[in-house]
Amino acid sequence: MSVFITFEGVDGAGKSTQLRLLLQYLEERGVPVFFTREPGGTPIAEQIREILLSPRNRGMSLITEALLFAASRAEHVSRTIRPALEAGKVVICDRFVDSSIVYQGFAGGLPLDFVEQINQMATGALRPHRTIVLDLAPEVALARLKAGGMDRIEEKSLAYHRQVREGYLEIARAEPRRVKIVDASRGVDEVQAEIRALVDEVLPRRFGGGRTAS
Ligand code: TYD
Repeated sequence: MSVFITFEGVDGAGKSTQLRLLLQYLEERGVPVFFTREPGGTPIAEQIREILLSPRNRGMSLITEALLFAASRAEHVSRTIRPALEAGKVVICDRFVDSSIVYQGFAGGLPLDFVEQINQMATGALRPHRTIVLDLAPEVALARLKAGGMDRIEEKSLAYHRQVREGYLEIARAEPRRVKIVDASRGVDEVQAEIRALVDEVLPRRFGGGRTAS
């Protein structure tokens, strides 16, 4: 039985650190994990990622942005995610459709139903069993990032990132069983413990999870 889990959150919420620790935990327990990320995950999708994130492309229209994210996702789902799910893997993806709903829709201002429709097409309506949102005030998150140098989307204003955060909270209110908000302002270990518990809930029982086989 396959399980599809996605990670979301404002830039700088500590997603990479938490994902690294989670993967270690799952691998130690012998869970067959396949990890991937968006935008990217296949050679074509990685090329689209470069166009999307390059600070040279500041003039890109919002619709182009949304369509390119969806195009990269279509490649990623058909060539990478679906085959891994079909092979029985637990697929963990760093960002997925919710990023587009929130960044291009809620924060960017594109109609949500447009973003939903193009993503429905791009993914063949594939939906995660669980989505974990690392929640952090954008002021704190962006201060963490500035040390590193920012990409084109990270450079957008604080107001934009506040809307990103609100968008995630709204999706979680609408789909409370799938989408779980995790307070990322706490220490790394505390955040990781909560993430592990939320992931265990959707793992099959043979891996110590709470899900009955289907
Ligand atoms: P990335 O460097 O992967 O950021 P992170 O490490 O925070 O995941 O860059 C992804 C950026 O693209 C991030 O700012 C979120 C944005 N994004 C969208 O705007 N829409 C999308 O559909 C996706 C997948 C990402």
